[in-house]
Amino acid sequence: MNKIIVSLLLTLGLTGLAHAAGDAKAGQAKAAVCGACHGADGNSAAPNFPKLAGQGDKYLLKQMHDIKSGKRTVLEMTGILNNVSDQDMEDIAAYFSSQNMSIGAADPKQVAHGEELFRGGKLSEGMPACIGCHAPNGVGNVPAGFPRLGGQHAAYVAKQLTNFREGERTNDGDSMIMRSIAAKLSNKDIAAISSYIEGLH
Ligand code: HEC
Ligand code: HEC
Repeated sequence: MNKIIVSLLLTLGLTGLAHAAGDAKAGQAKAAVCGACHGADGNSAAPNFPKLAGQGDKYLLKQMHDIKSGKRTVLEMTGILNNVSDQDMEDIAAYFSSQNMSIGAADPKQVAHGEELFRGGKLSEGMPACIGCHAPNGVGNVPAGFPRLGGQHAAYVAKQLTNFREGERTNDGDSMIMRSIAAKLSNKDIAAISSYIEGLH
């Protein structure tokens, strides 16, 4: 009886390990097609294409699955993930997460208000601070799947916050974490916070 339980636990443990990590080297070759928009090393040039470099692998993997299944709409990526297998996605996630996200520059006029919101939230309206999940330096929380924000293009960040607020991005799950937070942000808040994030490190 005990033997059966032990071998069952071992099998579960080993399967868990086998699924834990992608192969970054294999991922680099598989990511070639993504580089046209996201940059060969994951640092995209165009501000509406998100940087993937240094992004947590768990978050990247979830977004790829959500985009592939249509849970998150990305028109530019229509069909691109159709023939990309689960293993390919794990390898690609491992590759991009092993790179370093480049840091941009914040608009000095936006920093004070952006920082206030990022670090302090809006307590009067019950909106928590961003640092609780995305970390004070913006690196996110890799095991929890909370994305890295520090250095991300302001235009992309602003679009995501607006999409969450308007219900156009809904893949933040049943808890609706980002939709309820973005509901408390004005256009001015979003501009300030996004600019602050682009220079955050
Ligand atoms: C034609 C341009 C294009 C190509 C090629 C492309 N993407 Fe994208 N990708 C986008 C755009 C644009 C977005 C963001 C859309 C939005 O505003 O929500 C995006 C978003 C993403 C995201 C979500 C990032 C985040 O921070 O949430 C991931 C992950 C991603 N792409 C992975 C890939 C992978 C992997 C490939 C290659 C297999 C790829 N993309 C190829 C344009 C592209
Ligand atoms: C309670 C945790 C939590 C808090 C607090 C929080 N976030 Fe998030 N955020 C998340 C999670 C989880 C996701 C990923 C949702 C998904 O899976 O698509 C996310 C996603 C995002 C994204 C999309 C990133 C990308 O690459 O597409 C942006 C931008 C963002 N958050 C900004 C903020 C800002 C700004 C604040 C503060 C005003 C904030 N978040 C507060 C948990 C949080």
